[in-house]
Amino acid sequence: MLVTAPIHEDGVMMLRKEGVEVRVHDQSRPYSKEELIRELQDVDGVIAGGEDFDEEVIEASKRLKVISRHGVGYDNVNVDAASRAGVLVTITPFALSESVAETAIGLMLSVARKLTNADRLVREKMWTESYAGASKFMGVELARKRLGIVGLGRIGAHVAKRALAFDMEVTYHDVIRNELLEQLMKIEFVAFDDLLAKSDFVSIHAPLTQATKGLIGEKELKKMKRTSFLINTSRGQLVDQKALVRALKEKWIAGAALDVFEVEPIVPSDPILGLDNAVLTPHIGSATMEARNRMSREAASNVLTVLRGQQPRNTVNAKTKPR
Ligand code: DGY
Repeated sequence: MLVTAPIHEDGVMMLRKEGVEVRVHDQSRPYSKEELIRELQDVDGVIAGGEDFDEEVIEASKRLKVISRHGVGYDNVNVDAASRAGVLVTITPFALSESVAETAIGLMLSVARKLTNADRLVREKMWTESYAGASKFMGVELARKRLGIVGLGRIGAHVAKRALAFDMEVTYHDVIRNELLEQLMKIEFVAFDDLLAKSDFVSIHAPLTQATKGLIGEKELKKMKRTSFLINTSRGQLVDQKALVRALKEKWIAGAALDVFEVEPIVPSDPILGLDNAVLTPHIGSATMEARNRMSREAASNVLTVLRGQQPRNTVNAKTKPR
């Protein structure tokens, strides 16, 4: 077994207890494609991080039976190529919803109240800035503001629940309408354009697919209110980052808080790094002790199930005839 993901040791212990030999990548840097192919040569399974498991990598890994994604997104795995090769692709859908939802709420508060800017100003000994009438610390409340959730899946629903506790008015858009949740939570389904035009905060919780790539571009950003904020904890490629930089510079919107980027790790020359109306975190949505522990155990359990010749519940390509 190979582990390329930043895994909690519980998952590794689970595998070793069952007699599985495990090699864990030290996370000092991502594998190059050549290294990944080399490392996959002698393994039956991989607990996968964000590396690109493209057709070439999958075709070259003749022993591989399972790509167990340590996470819920699988946009970095060519599922069709895996299916053709008889490799099962599994995910950990129940492990991280609350952590990612908490990250989204944290980012919302942070960008609305300028918490990261405030932290920097205090360290720069500019505390008295807070006394000025229109100070650099002046923010807006979440209470009674309208939140537009893009994608009401597990994570989106957890965000809705938390936002309601902050007295926000919650709306959502999704390709599948969830009338039961609408009634239970008292949230409203709205058309995508309405969500953009009327929300004070837009929070993205949709998977990256061909249909969602570039979902928020110049046209969409221009539809948003000038006082609104964009939050993204899903995948960077859902947002056209160049357009977002212009929107933030030219104040089409008030701010953005991003945990995910078009290119990760973000490159030092990325212009978004110079914008103080953006809060930026390094893809840490699931980085809590609790979520990472659950993810490691779910990912390990998916591997063990495949090694026993069975199909895990969380298989993405369930119709695949396994190797
Ligand atoms: C996910 O679940 O896909 C997160 O982004 C962690 O990889």
